[in-house]
Amino acid sequence: MADQLKIQLYKLLSAFSLAMDYNRHGLMRHHQRVALLALYLAEELQLSGEEYLPLFCSAIIHDAGSSTFREKANLEHFEVNNPWEHCERGFNLLDSVRILKPLAGIVRHHHDNWDGQNFSGLSGNLIPLASRIIYLADRVDILAQKPGNILDHRDEIVEKIQSKSGTMFDPGLVEAFSHIAQKECLWLDLTNQFIQSRLEQNLGNCPVTVNQDEITGISLIFSKIIDGKSPFTFRHSQLVAEVARFLAEKIGFDKEQQNNMYIAGLLHDLGKLSIPDEILEKPGRLNKVEYNVIKQHTYITYQILSNIDCFEEINSWASYHHEKLDGTGYPFHLTGKELTTGSRVMAVADIFSALIEDRPYRQGMSRNEIEKILVGQVKSRAIDGEIAGLLLDSYGEAEDLKEKIHGREEL
Ligand SMILES: [Fe+2]
Ligand SMILES: [Fe+2]
Ligand SMILES: [Fe+2]
Repeated sequence: MADQLKIQLYKLLSAFSLAMDYNRHGLMRHHQRVALLALYLAEELQLSGEEYLPLFCSAIIHDAGSSTFREKANLEHFEVNNPWEHCERGFNLLDSVRILKPLAGIVRHHHDNWDGQNFSGLSGNLIPLASRIIYLADRVDILAQKPGNILDHRDEIVEKIQSKSGTMFDPGLVEAFSHIAQKECLWLDLTNQFIQSRLEQNLGNCPVTVNQDEITGISLIFSKIIDGKSPFTFRHSQLVAEVARFLAEKIGFDKEQQNNMYIAGLLHDLGKLSIPDEILEKPGRLNKVEYNVIKQHTYITYQILSNIDCFEEINSWASYHHEKLDGTGYPFHLTGKELTTGSRVMAVADIFSALIEDRPYRQGMSRNEIEKILVGQVKSRAIDGEIAGLLLDSYGEAEDLKEKIHGREEL
């Protein structure tokens, strides 16, 4: 039963990568463009079929180590000042999950310069080929972010890349790039709105799929990327996931549903990656304008998860956590009739976790205060009374989950 959930690996990573592709300019699709350029280079270099998938999968999440808009802005400079931190963080994240382990080394070296002087200590051919390809593709995409017709900038971009041959970039790759850069389609692919379907054309029949366990591992990585947006949400996604799974078990969900609830909890705030850092880190109440920005996060979680086959239920459990039974929640204004038990569980798990955790403007709340708020929300028909009651009845166990998650040493 546990293997019912089966998804193509590249599709899962492509969908999740969209959440990482927001910066202060909006949805940039940087990872998609770098992945597509990497595939162009792979074709020109006549890489074998088996080399395509790890190249694509690492390209589509190569900046997993940078969560905040601040960090992303730093990577927009052609010559990045201290890129190693996000490379190392990305390495540690991917290295922690079996299915992504082979990609970790590629991500670690994706800013290594060909002539050495790298934090990693590597140079030349010792740098993994996939890392060298991603580095070049990544820097081309940074140079390509100019207003106007991309074809008008093409020569300038190629010249800039050629000027760094043998220093920043592998000379063989620069030569390959110079050749394919003559094709208008490469540049037009970078600017068109159909980039997603262009990627599918390249990898459509890729047979590598992931099962529920592997999806859980990948979702755990993304929960860490989400929570990395702000020290104040440190491990919030993991705690929501644990509490939601715990409540699902109490309610009598089977093992597979409990695990899906855990995945949904890890991903429930995926859309927070689209929110400016200063709003998430504001040490006080949000004003109306800021709150209107916050409201997009569950909408974006929903849109991203709806790109994944077989994720309908997980999506509804993850994305409706700010809906209320009386229809006054956001962003869909669903009502009790439309909110399933799983979605109701997530709403309770999210509120409980947020209240028990420290926030920039207050300490985690006491049991009495939390009970008061939950009972109040049941009375106002925001959340489900039975589920809130279950949580309050087994309060000690839920509290232990917080100690377990927040007391962990590792990343
Ligand atoms: Fe990077
Ligand atoms: Fe990048
Ligand atoms: Fe939320």
